[in-house]
Amino acid sequence: MKVLVVGSGGREHAIIWKLLQSPKVSYVYCAPGNGGIRQMAECVDIKADDIEGLCQFAKKHKIDLTVVGPELPLSLGIVDVFEKEGLRIFGPRKNAAIIESSKAFAKDFMQKYGIPTAQYKIYEDATKAKEQIDSFGFPVVIKADGLAAGKGVIIADTKEEAIKTIDMVMRDRHFGQAGDKVVIEEFLQGKEASILAFVDGKTAVPMVSAQDYKRTYDGDLGLNTGGMGAISPAPHYDEKVATDVMEEIIKPTVEAMKRENRPYKGVLYFGLMITKDGPKVIEYNCRFGDPETEAVLLRLESDLVEIMEAVLDEKLHEMDIEWSENAAMCVVMASGGYPVSFEKGYEIKGLENAEQGIVFHAGTKYIDGKIVTDGGRVLIFSALGKTLDEARAIVYADMEKVNFKDCHYRRDVGLIR
Ligand code: AMP
Ligand code: GLY
Repeated sequence: MKVLVVGSGGREHAIIWKLLQSPKVSYVYCAPGNGGIRQMAECVDIKADDIEGLCQFAKKHKIDLTVVGPELPLSLGIVDVFEKEGLRIFGPRKNAAIIESSKAFAKDFMQKYGIPTAQYKIYEDATKAKEQIDSFGFPVVIKADGLAAGKGVIIADTKEEAIKTIDMVMRDRHFGQAGDKVVIEEFLQGKEASILAFVDGKTAVPMVSAQDYKRTYDGDLGLNTGGMGAISPAPHYDEKVATDVMEEIIKPTVEAMKRENRPYKGVLYFGLMITKDGPKVIEYNCRFGDPETEAVLLRLESDLVEIMEAVLDEKLHEMDIEWSENAAMCVVMASGGYPVSFEKGYEIKGLENAEQGIVFHAGTKYIDGKIVTDGGRVLIFSALGKTLDEARAIVYADMEKVNFKDCHYRRDVGLIR
């Protein structure tokens, strides 16, 4: 089978690493890929949102299965275009990807179907939003409606900060069109967990749980990022919580999407807050999470291609998906200044010495025999261990051997839980 993976991050590297373990896979292309992916797949220079270009490529090279990593092509309708051409592609159609691409849609959907989430209001008018801001109490959560590369959520501790944020998003259009509308919502307290599930339109099979470390610095300080590390399992996600999430959130979501004529196929990501009143949805994503995938896939013992085929053929209920009892974790090595501004093009040294765990590449590029930095999140160090502490020791031992100018990473992934 020839497979095309769309994307260029650590998530896509991990997906390719797992796909290549399948005896069914004979060749993998990645568009556009990165400096690490090129060691295991043929990288082709087509951007992830160039849907026409990707479709032409898939036809020309007789690709048997395309797997889409990032949300942007999904929200632009890559699945609809491929399906029209009779090509097999893993991911939700545009009308289902909206569950991530519009937070306003997601909130109204949850309210309509009684899926637990934070109290909220949607505003298209900044003045009105500012007038009503007191009614939420503080801190308050302000979210740009559209896609904003994981940065469109601001937690404002005071009224002053909230008003500044509304102006930044709606008046100054800091996130562009994503700020046409804002969702303002109640601040939830509790422990977070990320649950990724395979969904075939009717049946959902959750993967093992994970927890994301979103803040930039140790001690959960600094700005929110796309994620600085992840552990699996999530420590607070016991069987009782898992059952509640399945019955109150996962099943109702899949059922309701079907009822809305937006059948969901692919991976559906549930960002959850486990509150004292039970689990609530913080957000949905229409894809594998990053960096959760770089921990979770290490624990997958079944064949990922077989699972993806079962999703496409609506046969998930026939699958028995197996997971390792071991713990997994990953830590992101980022460029100095990430998530705000950073330089690129620095040589990465010592990669050949990091050999205890697995190093997935995110923002890297291969130039003249060297691997150089090419993004904010640069490398993801992952490992599996009998315990989380064992995985942790492997990850950090590897990280000590690798560096580039101004690199930084959290040292407390797996410690604060
Ligand atoms: P999101 O991009 O929606 O995942 O939001 C980023 C992060 O903001 C989440 O992982 C939470 O830590 C935090 N967050 C979002 N919404 C809420 C909320 N209603 N209450 C508390 N924290 C939130
Ligand atoms: N780690 C959060 C996300 O993938 O959006």
